[in-house]
Amino acid sequence: MSELFTTYESDFQLALQDAKARIAEVPGLDANQRKVTLQAIESATDECLELVDQMSLEVQNLPASQRSTYNTKIRQYRNQTEESKQRLSQLLDDQDKQELFGNRYSDHDDGIHDSQRKQLLNNQSSLDRSTQRLQDSQRVALETESIGGNILNDLRAQREQIMGARDTLTAADGYIDKSVKTLKSISRRITANKFISYAIIAVLILLIFLVLASVRASATMRVQSAGVALHKNLIATAMKPKGKLRTNGHLQGTFRGLHTSAPLFHGHIHKPKPGEELHITFITKDGSQHTFEVAEGDNLLDIAQAYNLDMEGACGGSCACSTCHVIVDPEFYDEIPEPDDDENDMLDLAFGLTETSRLGCQIKMTKELDGLRVALPAMTRNLQVRDFN
Ligand code: FES
Repeated sequence: MSELFTTYESDFQLALQDAKARIAEVPGLDANQRKVTLQAIESATDECLELVDQMSLEVQNLPASQRSTYNTKIRQYRNQTEESKQRLSQLLDDQDKQELFGNRYSDHDDGIHDSQRKQLLNNQSSLDRSTQRLQDSQRVALETESIGGNILNDLRAQREQIMGARDTLTAADGYIDKSVKTLKSISRRITANKFISYAIIAVLILLIFLVLASVRASATMRVQSAGVALHKNLIATAMKPKGKLRTNGHLQGTFRGLHTSAPLFHGHIHKPKPGEELHITFITKDGSQHTFEVAEGDNLLDIAQAYNLDMEGACGGSCACSTCHVIVDPEFYDEIPEPDDDENDMLDLAFGLTETSRLGCQIKMTKELDGLRVALPAMTRNLQVRDFN
């Protein structure tokens, strides 16, 4: 409870006691004293009413849970004040009657003035009712004022909330503007990055095509170079059927030298002179033996091809493959001249290599090899262009 309400309450008690004490004094006073005392009582009751109204307003500021107790007190004080005012009203009526009728007036008068008295009493009752209505109206007006004050307080609080919400919305609007700017910036960057990615992908695809084209062109040139070199070697071999071919510096570094089995004479052998026939036996893959009479100087590749045996001779006898691989009978192996480095290199690539393996194109028939026996291996390997790399 506020200190102000307590002060109002103390003042109300003093004013009410003063009014009651004066009311009790009135019957024993003369006319003048009575008039002064009634005015004092009226002032005291007015003060009481005013204090009750002040207390009522003060209670409106309290929390709703505390109001009921003080409203009960205020109703009690208001009733006490009303009782004093009714008593004052009666005393004022008596005074008015005294002033109006003087000594002729008496509550116990006979029926001489009954009609006037009834009329006055009716008027008094009417005035009392009017006064009561006015008091009720005043009370309603005070209550309305109180309600209006509460409504104003609520409106003030709502106004503050609305202003706070407006500030919040303004701040949010600022944040939204910043967000929109940020999103636009991100969108521009994404678009730029997308175009950069497309450009990088296009460049990579172009580079891949260029690399593939370069590799293809390089491979084609190398194949063509190898073909040209091989062709030159074959021509040179044809021009020099005997002896070892050595090409210029560039080709020497790329291809092996060609040997004396001229391709122009490939598959062509000489007819042996009577009495000078030499004998050679080929053992083919199926185990069958084929013996021929040949002339001195013919190589085994030409002899085999002349008699349609299965010996490929892919390089034409230039010691550049191993498809003329033969396995020599050990009895005759030492009669054959030692293989040179080129033949040994090709033999290293042959399938089914044995200790008496040789290349048929590099073995020429001599008198020492009369009766020679060679076997054809089950498989041969044709050296390809890539093997020169
Ligand atoms: S035929 Fe090629 S090395 Fe004898």
